[in-house]
Amino acid sequence: MRMYDLIYTKKEGGRLSDEQIAFWVRGVTAGTVPEEQSAALLMAVCWRGMDTRETLALTLAMRDSGRRLDLSSVPGVKVDKHSTGGVGDKTTLVLGPIVAACGVPCAMFSGRGLGHTGGTVDKYSAIPGLRVELDPDAFRASLRATGFANSAQTGDICPADRKLYALRDVTATVESIPLITASIMSKKLAGGCDALVLDVKCGSGAFMKTPEQARALARSLVAVGQAHGMRVKALVTRMAEPLGRTIGNALEVMESVEILKGQGDSDLARMSLRLAAEMVLLGGACATLDEAEDRVAEAVASGRAMAVYRAWVAHNGGDPRALDDFSLLPGARRRVPVPAEASGYVQAMDSRALGLLAMELGAGRRDRDDVLDLGVGIQVEVRVGQWVEAGQRLLTLCCNERDGQPLPAGWITLGPARPEPAPWLLESIEADR
Ligand code: URA
Repeated sequence: MRMYDLIYTKKEGGRLSDEQIAFWVRGVTAGTVPEEQSAALLMAVCWRGMDTRETLALTLAMRDSGRRLDLSSVPGVKVDKHSTGGVGDKTTLVLGPIVAACGVPCAMFSGRGLGHTGGTVDKYSAIPGLRVELDPDAFRASLRATGFANSAQTGDICPADRKLYALRDVTATVESIPLITASIMSKKLAGGCDALVLDVKCGSGAFMKTPEQARALARSLVAVGQAHGMRVKALVTRMAEPLGRTIGNALEVMESVEILKGQGDSDLARMSLRLAAEMVLLGGACATLDEAEDRVAEAVASGRAMAVYRAWVAHNGGDPRALDDFSLLPGARRRVPVPAEASGYVQAMDSRALGLLAMELGAGRRDRDDVLDLGVGIQVEVRVGQWVEAGQRLLTLCCNERDGQPLPAGWITLGPARPEPAPWLLESIEADR
C-alpha cells in the first residue's frame, strides 16, 4: 500500500477502504508516514469528506492506536458524556454524582483547558488533594466504590489522535466533520463506555458557530456511535453566553455544589439535569425521559447526589470538607467590579472574549505548559435579556497576581430593545431505529 494512492483517491473524491485507513493510522502512530503526506490526506478529507463507514474505520483505527480501558468487570451500562466545549461549562461536575446516585455507573474521561475554553480536569484540580489522573485499576475502583469515575485522558490513549490533531492545528484542517467525529469518538470508545450522551454546542464561545454546523456534527457523531453498536444520543445546545454564573476553576466547583444542593434555577442547572436524565435513560435505569427526569430531581432533592460527590472526592484522595466549606478551595485576593456604562437590556455577550479574559487572569492556558491560578476567574453578574441600570455591576473579576485587560466595548452589548428569549436546547438527535 502507498500513501500516494490514498491521497490521490481522496483528492479525486473516492472512498478509502478500512484497510487503507488502518494502514495510514498505523503509520502515523509509528512515525513511518511522512507528515507532508498525512497533511495532504487531511486536506483532501477536509474538501471531499468521508462517509459513515470511512469515519467509523478512522475512529476504530485511532482507538486502537493506544491503550483501551476495559470496564467489563464493572456491572451495569457504563455511561459517559462529551461536550464539544464551551465557556463556563461545568455540567460534568454537576451530572457525574447525579447519574451515579440514580444507579447508573458514570465513567468519564475529561480534558484540560486550552485558550478560551476551560477543562473539567482543571476544575477538579481546585479540590485540594483530589487525584485527577487515575490508572485503570484506580479508575475501576472509583467506579465500583462510588458509581462515578473521572480521570484526565492519559498520554497512552489514542496517540494517533494527538499526532493528527497537532498536524490539523497547523494545516487549517481542524474544522472537518469526519475528522472531528473520529477524534472525539476514538477517545470515548477507548475509555470503555457502553453509552454516550453528546452535548454539541453552537454559538460565539463554541467550536461550531452555527446551528447547521452543530447539527451536522451531532448527526455524524450519532451515526458513528450507532454504526459501532453503541447507545448514543446528542443534544444540540445554544451557547449565547457563558454557561452559569462563573468562569474559573474553584469558582466553577462552588457553582456545581450549589446546583447539587438544589440551589439555583439557571440554564446551567436545567441543562445539567437534562443531560443527567438522558444518561440515566441510556443507562437503562428508566423507561422514559420523564421518569429519568423525576429520578434525577429526586437524587438532588434527597441529598443523595451530594453524598456521592463527597464520597467520590474522599475516595480519590480529596478533601470532601471543601465541598461544604468553600474557604478550603483556592481563592482570589481582589474582587474588581466591572460596571455598566449605560442602562439597557443585555443583548449579547461575547463568550469567547470572556473566556479569554479569564485566561488572562490565570484561570486558563495560553500554552499547553502554562501553570494555572485555580482561585481566579470571573463572576458573570447578568444574563442576556436582563435590564441593567448604568453603574450596575456586569462582571466581578476575581484576581490574584494579574489584572484583567480593560474590557473593550462590545463584549457585553447593552441596548434599548429586549432580545427575544431563545431556548438553550435546539434539537435532540437520536440514533435511527
Ligand atoms: N475535540 C476533539 O477532541 N477533537 C477535535 O477534533 C475537535 C474537538
